[in-house]
Amino acid sequence: YAAADRDKLLSEPGIYGTFAAFGLTEEWGRLDAPAKIAHLTALKGVVEQHREKVAIDLYLLRGLSDHADVLFRIHAADLRDSQKFLVDLHASPMGRYLKGAGVLNGMSKKANYVPGFPDQMKADLKTASEPGPVPYAIVIPIRKSAEWWALDQEKRAVMMKEHTEAALPYHKTVKRKLYHSSGLDDLDFITYFETSNLEDFHNLILSLEKVKEFQYTRRFGHPTLLGTSKSLDQLIETLAQ
Ligand code: HEM
Repeated sequence: YAAADRDKLLSEPGIYGTFAAFGLTEEWGRLDAPAKIAHLTALKGVVEQHREKVAIDLYLLRGLSDHADVLFRIHAADLRDSQKFLVDLHASPMGRYLKGAGVLNGMSKKANYVPGFPDQMKADLKTASEPGPVPYAIVIPIRKSAEWWALDQEKRAVMMKEHTEAALPYHKTVKRKLYHSSGLDDLDFITYFETSNLEDFHNLILSLEKVKEFQYTRRFGHPTLLGTSKSLDQLIETLAQ
């Protein structure tokens, strides 16, 4: 199979993002190594079979989160392709050992406020982040208040500019991706971050909490998912233990 155009799926507007978290059952822990490896090999087959249509990223949450053990981030131009992957995953031999721990749906959109920002700010937002491995991923679902949505675009733009000013010092060490979820889920945004520096990320959140825009947040996290990025083979190796 030809792989889906990952770069496009990860960067373009109008792409669906699904975050599906799973716990592993206790029964899984009691399987012997050959059985685990057989199931994980089948899992690998399912992931590979869908790579033509969807881009799949994997994260290990086990040990860092009590919400789930593994997280799948799935991007697709058509949400039905993400659903097909998850349905096949459930139907695979591994499926009976996976406990659903939450699914979030959102979509990428063109920036709403950035086009109105000063040129310098636009340029700062375009600078590349630090190269090198980015081990941690963080997912924070967010819902804003009715008051926020009732404000006119200009008022919201001023506050989003403040948000961006407060956040820009962390732009180099924290990679971000925004998904819009209103109507697709019980939230307005899924915010996704990658970093190698959790202290920076923590300080970034503290800075953003001081900005006026934050007053309009009704849900922040619940859950916050913190995990480590893994390749399929790395994840398989960890789960086979
Ligand atoms: C939106 C920058 C970190 C939550 C935005 C936008 C920018 C931005 C430019 C506006 C996008 C648009 O034009 O539509 C940054 C930068 C960050 C950062 C540079 C640091 C690397 C965060 C963090 C959170 C967050 C840590 C919360 C956990 C949001 C949300 C929106 C948003 C919810 C959408 C707001 C709305 O449209 O009402 N961010 N951000 N951002 N950001 Fe951040």
